[in-house]
Formats: sequence, structure tokens, C-alpha cells
Amino acid sequence: MTDHPDTIVILDFGSQYCHLIGRRVRELNVYSEIVPHDRPWSEIARLNPKGVVLSGSPFGVYEPNAPGCDPMLLTSGVPILGICYGLQWLAQRLGGNVAKNDYREYGSAIATVTTSDPFLANVPPRFEAWMSHGDSVVALPSGFTTLASTGSTPFAAVVDHGRKIYGVQFHPEVTHTPHGVQIFKNFVFDVCDCTPNWQLGEFAERSIASIRNQVGDGHAICAVSGGVDSTVAAALVHQALGDRLHCVFVDNGLMRLNEADEIEHSLGAFLETSLISVDATDRFLTQLAGVIDPEQKRKRIGETFIRVFEAEAAKLGQPHWLVQGTLYPDVIESATGHQTAGKIKTHHNVGGLPTDVNFSIIEPLRYLFKDEVRRLGPQLGVPEAILRRQPFPGPGLAVRVIGEVTPDRLTTLRAADAIVREELERSEIAPLLGQYFAVLTPISSVGVMGDSRTYGNVVAVRAVSTDDFMTADAIALPRETMVRLATRIVNEVAGVNRVVYDITSKPPATIEWE
Ligand code: XMP
Repeated sequence: MTDHPDTIVILDFGSQYCHLIGRRVRELNVYSEIVPHDRPWSEIARLNPKGVVLSGSPFGVYEPNAPGCDPMLLTSGVPILGICYGLQWLAQRLGGNVAKNDYREYGSAIATVTTSDPFLANVPPRFEAWMSHGDSVVALPSGFTTLASTGSTPFAAVVDHGRKIYGVQFHPEVTHTPHGVQIFKNFVFDVCDCTPNWQLGEFAERSIASIRNQVGDGHAICAVSGGVDSTVAAALVHQALGDRLHCVFVDNGLMRLNEADEIEHSLGAFLETSLISVDATDRFLTQLAGVIDPEQKRKRIGETFIRVFEAEAAKLGQPHWLVQGTLYPDVIESATGHQTAGKIKTHHNVGGLPTDVNFSIIEPLRYLFKDEVRRLGPQLGVPEAILRRQPFPGPGLAVRVIGEVTPDRLTTLRAADAIVREELERSEIAPLLGQYFAVLTPISSVGVMGDSRTYGNVVAVRAVSTDDFMTADAIALPRETMVRLATRIVNEVAGVNRVVYDITSKPPATIEWE
């Protein structure tokens, strides 16, 4: 992007909260960019940062591979805020002392402001601060003074006014530090003198202009799933290229009741002639016949999707550009090399495909967080129904029909799932729900209906609350909702005679069953 708004750079030392620091700054309408801790200062300086934040880290400063950053930062004159490890690294580097605690302090502490300072303006004299550390600063470098302390550390917040270096031992970026937002405000506006000029509307205008410039009179293709990311990405590129953008919606036959028609209708309404809809149901179901293993299902669906998409690209004369809905957290993950602990599920997303065709990539959302994408949607005319849609896995109902996926079993699940959605949407707990759906289990159970014995399918219901889908809690359903769900599903869905409720949280379970 050219023509940058005021920018705060966050150096990622590996903290699990690094994304949150980036979001907190963006929430103040100030642009933030997260970069790996070891990026040379000469490159960071090109972003023209008005301030730099050093994140926390799982390391201790004395460990052999402890991460550091280019010391040029320290003499650059740019204001710095060190958080947790960031503070410890600064303290050690500048001649202070850091020591290992006897125990790891984890949880809420009460911090007391000891010296009033603009950095803690509008923060109460005693405030709640979230701690998560095993080491502590035990001696400050010269030039530093203390601004706040807790029962366990005299250096909960510190400053060196001469060098414009601030540090906090607690985590202002997490919601458990209720005045953390105020502390970021003070740092970003008072210390760094930023103007809140990060506006999504302007971002969209700049992106549209730059896509036009990049693509010239070329053509682009985009796989749309009806999900938020691919739709907003397509909407942005559509504004840049008009009917030189070709959006492909592949109906894999694994959507919920009436969903393929609804998506086609709502996408068609604003993408107009750009939308190409392909009914590939038979192809997907043929590939899934006899397959039970969840990973095999996901692989076959992913491969079939690529083949269908390639065929459409060929029909369109092989457009040179491929639009992907990659978001900023994915970009940070790959740039900073965060490793996830091992493959849990092969995710199939329409965004990451295909790999063996020579497209040039356009990623118009690569600087945005998910909540920014949701806020940008309406400005681009994306229908409310799409922005409100719950996440739906790329492999669709194939991972909710446990065991073999057949047309009959899909019909059973669709009918049960429609009831689950209808009942939960009108239930009093609806605002708490992040995701809710039915699962068709491979179990048959005995029942009795009228005077006859039945032997039918068991349907499971899953309803979770979640902030980010990385963790989730099963919701306690009101009793009357549970009764209505069971009664309606057994009465209205042929072949089902029992309904069970999944009470497991994530972790240890995942949200989807496969
Ligand atoms: P799990 O089951 O891993 O799911 O707890 C976390 C979230 O991701 C969704 N999900 C997927 N989304 N492609 C997607 O785009 C996939 O293959 C996929 N698998 C799971 C799931 O619905 C939940 O919201």
C-alpha cells in the first residue's frame, strides 16, 4: 500500500497475544502492522512508524535463543512500548536486571499508580492488570522511573522520558485488563502523536485504485463460497474490475437446506453478471461414495473442488489473476513463522486454491482483521444475510454426516439441521450462540412410536459460544428448547428416533465432529 496512514509497528516476539495488540491499535483507527522481531530496523523504518510495541514472548531473556530486535530501534527516537517480555528485553538490553521468579504469576493483579503520567492518564489509581510471566525486572536501567507497581513487582509500569521508552509488566491488550484500551490510547495518541486516520472506506478506495493499476485490462477469477471473506474480497475486486472479475460458486451438494439457492441468489444480486454458478453435486457425491475416514473426505472434496474450478477457469480463457480472501492473521502466521502444533484437520478453504496453475494472486484483505472485514462489507454493498452467516466448513455437511455420505443421509441431516437452526434462532439464548448445527451419527438406536418398535438414526445437536472459534464452550440450552428440539426432530424427520446433545467444550473436542 502506498500513502500510508499513521502506523504503529508491533514486533512479534512470539506472544500468543500479538494479534490482540494489533487489533487494539486498529480499534483506535490507527493502522498497525505486526512484523517479525528480527526484521532489520532499516526495513521497519520504511513503514515510517510513529511508535513501536514490543510484544510478550514464551521465552525468558536469559534463554539461549531468546528473541531480540535490531538495537538501532533504541536510538531511532521513535517511542517504544515494551509489554511483558518486551519490557524485560528492554530492561536487560539497557543495563537493568531481570531475574527468574520462584513461581509463574498468572492471572489478575491490582496495580497501583505511583507517579502520575500522561501514559496512565484516565486510569484509576488502582486498576486490574492481567499478568502472565515467569521472569521480572528487578533493577531498572538508569533514566527509568516507576509509574505503577503491584504486590509482586515494583515495576508494573515504567518510563524513560528522555528516550520515550515505556514498559508494562502486565498485558494491556487482553480484556482482563479493563483499562488496557485507555493505556493504548495514551500511548498511541499522547506519546506517539498519532492521528486516527485508519479508515476502512479510505482503505477500500486505495485498494480499488491499486487493483485497477495492477490488473490493467486483465481478467480475474475468484472462488466464492457464500462466506464472509470470499464475498467481501470479491466485492472489493468487483468494484475495481466490474465484469472483468469472474466469480465461481461451486455447489458441492453438501450445503444446508436451501442454502445453495440462497447463496446464489444473494451473491448474484450484487455481483450481477460476474457470478458463475456450477452444480457439481454428482461429481462430489461420486467421489465421496464409500468414504468414511474424515481426512479422506476432506482431501477428496478439496481435490474435486480444484478440478471443477480449473475447468471453469479454462472455459473463461484462463484469467491471469486469482482473487483470494486471505486475512491479516494468516499473513502474520506465515510471516512470523508461528507453528501450529500439528495437523488437527485438513482445512479446505476456497481461498487457497489451486496450487498448480499459474495465477498471479490478488489478496485485497491481507491487511485486515476479521472484524474489519465484517465492517467493510456493508460499505461495499455485501448483503446483511452473508455478513451474518455463521462459519460453515468448506467440506460442508460431509463432515457432519459421520460415516458414509449418501444422498439419503444428507437429506436426513438437512431436515434435522433446519429444525435446530429454526428453534435456536428464536430461543432466548440466540445472542450467546457462535455456531449451532445438527450432526448425523452413524449409530442406530431402538425406540418406540405408537405401539411399534423403531430402529432409527441418532442425531446429535451442537451449540457453542465462542470468541474466535479457537476455543468454544457448549451452551446450556433452556429445558423447553431441548424438549422442542427432540420432539420436532423425531416427529418431523423420517428415520430419526433419538436426539442427543453434545456437551463437550473445545478443547478437548473440536467444534465440528470430523
Ligand atoms: P474445528 O472443528 O476445528 O472448527 O473446531 C473451527 C471452526 O472452523 C470451521 N471449519 C472449517 N472452516 N474449512 C473452513 O473454512 C474447513 O475445512 C473447516 N473445518 C472446520 C468450523 O465450522 C468452526 O467454525
